[in-house]
Amino acid sequence: MNKTQHFIEENRQRLLDELFDLLRIPSVSANPDFSEDVFEAAQFVADRLKEAGADQVEVCPTAGYPVVYGERIVDPALPTVLVYGHYDVQPADPYELWHSPPFDPEIRDGKIYARGACDDKGQVYMHVKAFEYMMRYDALPCNIKFMIEGEEEVGSANLASFIVENTERLRADVVLISDTSMIANDVPSIDSGLRGLSYLEVEVTGPNRDLHSGVYGGAVTNPINALCGMIAQMHDANGRITIPGFYEQVQELSQDQRADLNRAPFNAEAYMKDLGVTSLRGEEGYNTLERTGIRPTLDVNGIWGGYTGEGSKTVLPSKAFAKISMRLVPHQSSESATELFSRYFQSIAPPGVQVEVRPHHGGEPVVTPTDSVAFRAASLAMQDTFGVSPIPTRGGGSIPIVALFEKELGLKSVLMGFGLDSDALHSPNEHYGVFNYFKGIETIPHFFAHYARLQAGA
Ligand code: BES
Ligand code: MN
Ligand code: MN
Repeated sequence: MNKTQHFIEENRQRLLDELFDLLRIPSVSANPDFSEDVFEAAQFVADRLKEAGADQVEVCPTAGYPVVYGERIVDPALPTVLVYGHYDVQPADPYELWHSPPFDPEIRDGKIYARGACDDKGQVYMHVKAFEYMMRYDALPCNIKFMIEGEEEVGSANLASFIVENTERLRADVVLISDTSMIANDVPSIDSGLRGLSYLEVEVTGPNRDLHSGVYGGAVTNPINALCGMIAQMHDANGRITIPGFYEQVQELSQDQRADLNRAPFNAEAYMKDLGVTSLRGEEGYNTLERTGIRPTLDVNGIWGGYTGEGSKTVLPSKAFAKISMRLVPHQSSESATELFSRYFQSIAPPGVQVEVRPHHGGEPVVTPTDSVAFRAASLAMQDTFGVSPIPTRGGGSIPIVALFEKELGLKSVLMGFGLDSDALHSPNEHYGVFNYFKGIETIPHFFAHYARLQAGA
């Protein structure tokens, strides 16, 4: 047993207890009812960072939820790693589908069940505890800065100005992020890119009030029928998005790059079984890994209108609504996708309804280098602790700040995540493997050791 493993064994229960304390705070950034809890989670992270040995710890106010900052400068001449993560979580709704309360963490089958267990409190806390270990055993070989935010799950709207106003404080050589997934516990991987996002809400208005669906049914355009028709038109028979110009900027991967992406093992049967579906469907000409990694998509995330309560009410609604997300790939831009969508959506509205498109948040797609010192350090670290070399993959999700780190601070990121796609992120019964939590704590110090050594040219 090496020193890190020994530290984990010795402190096993405490490492779990502390994470559980963080998981008990319902820091849901999307819902203002939880506002106090979001602030409390920020303070919790700040306190733990300070106890672990961070200096300059501050809960930095923003126009929204605060950013937690902390640092340890070993020697200004040494390289600096900026650790980014988020302490906010997605709403836990629908509560009734959870087998244990979302903010009362519980271990079942070796997994920690709680909202945020994987995304991203469990993964953030691995860094805090790996830092504690490095401080305690004099094993921090370079400088470290922490920037843990509280608005990732709502689009990080105030983080751009925070980083622009704090460029000096955030000066670093690389960003290290654990907020993504691996392929499997015995098939570690590192994401080398993330999709971008354009999220918007549409409102379709027909008659000026809800109508009796018998008296008026057939006489006017029903906005829900219209909305469904418009949504149905947004894909063609080959699963391609019909928005004019949508694919114009999309960068096609070379055969080599595609082959590389497909090095990741993929078992369609197991994938379907996990999701409870009998077939996989998407854009023609691409497989599932490609559809979720390197191809843009458009999905309805929610749709409502008319009567949705108990029983039935015969009503022809005045309005229909939907929330729609587009996942974007290099070199699409969130702003232009939003613009193209809006124009097209307006153009396909049938007579008798008015359409309004309201953009929510967005983020740009990113590709992170796989030939950098930091990526190599992450690969070597995972190789050390998993016993196999990680495969580079593409993550289908989005982390809006990653593109801004590059644009505003000139910093590249390494996406060394320890979750699994099957951890039910954003879903009921989110969980995080106890194995993954401890493996992360074990791997992070290896990353720092390799990174400092490689940067020094050794
Ligand atoms: N950690 C996720 C992103 C993620 C998960 C990337 C798994 C790759 C693999 C992050 O917290 C997230 O959920 N991001 C949001 C974007 C945000 C603007 C709401 C997303 O992807 O929907
Ligand atoms: Mn996350
Ligand atoms: Mn998330």
